[in-house]
Amino acid sequence: MQDLEHFIRGLPKAELHLHIEGSLEPELMFALGQRNKVDIPFKTVEEVRAAYAFSNLQDFLDIYYQGANVLQTEQDFQALANDYFKRLHADGGVHAEIFFDPETHTDRGLPFSVAIEGLLQGMRDAEAEYGITSKLIMCFLRHLDEESSFRTLKAAEPYLDRIAGVGLDSSEKGHPPSKFARVFKAAKSHGLKRVAHAGEEGPPEYVYEALDVLHVDRIDHGNRALEDAALTQRLVREEMTLTVCPLSNLKLCVIHDLKDHPMKRMLDLGMKATCNSDDPAYFGGYVGDNYLRTAEALGLSRAEIVQLAKNSFTGSFLDAAAISKHVMAVDAFAAVNQL
Ligand code: HPA
Ligand code: ZN
Repeated sequence: MQDLEHFIRGLPKAELHLHIEGSLEPELMFALGQRNKVDIPFKTVEEVRAAYAFSNLQDFLDIYYQGANVLQTEQDFQALANDYFKRLHADGGVHAEIFFDPETHTDRGLPFSVAIEGLLQGMRDAEAEYGITSKLIMCFLRHLDEESSFRTLKAAEPYLDRIAGVGLDSSEKGHPPSKFARVFKAAKSHGLKRVAHAGEEGPPEYVYEALDVLHVDRIDHGNRALEDAALTQRLVREEMTLTVCPLSNLKLCVIHDLKDHPMKRMLDLGMKATCNSDDPAYFGGYVGDNYLRTAEALGLSRAEIVQLAKNSFTGSFLDAAAISKHVMAVDAFAAVNQL
């Protein structure tokens, strides 16, 4: 029998829920802050890490938006992506569909092109260096108004061939998916995929709205869907992929102990759950750690761990041939590594 950590880090996997701004490690934050002469309200890396004690989503978001201020140039965004893909590669990641928040940057005066050009370069670097493929998902900040989301979609027009889809993130409570019905409809008419954070802190009704009003292809998080049996059954029936983020849930107090995490329940129910890191620099672990700590806390079997990896490909926006190639690679790995 191989050791669990070795098995998990070797298992081919995709990451489907990753905010690239949330992969900004304190070391890079300091380096960019210094280079760009942007003040950081902390003196040391240790002080930054100590500040990452959150009691809810908003607590985290306040610090996360502040951290993003150090990102000023295309090279900064490229460096951010380079660091992330290096970590993903070390964790057995072979594909990622990464979120970015354009309004976080355009609202502080950066042109839309700066963030996206830097990220696209980082994505090309990952393919050249590691053979990692990736797609970009542009998220609208739900605490802002619909007009801002339409401005963002307009700014994205020159890049629509390089953007896979749109998403919805930021403060969930009080900002239901229906607030963005029209911009999601416009995104659909451009041929973009659609995802939305729902049921992280918000109620099951927000998951219904994401499905019925935004017509999403995936639900990001989705934990609170389990409070509604009919909704749970529907998600199973429709084979809806959930991009679940266990260490994020722990850090943001969605759960209070990893042993209480619903990941195993989701798998037992037949839900298409995947395991992801969300904002790894803030939540204490990249995708491999999310698999490992969840598997340890819940006693997941190797078959269940393999199922999570398969779900990460079948729930991706890759084409059918690529999905089938990756699923076969998961099976081949599992066969050789003694399930
Ligand atoms: N939830 C909502 N918005 C976010 C998150 C999250 O976990 N991370 C970054 N933006
Ligand atoms: Zn998220």
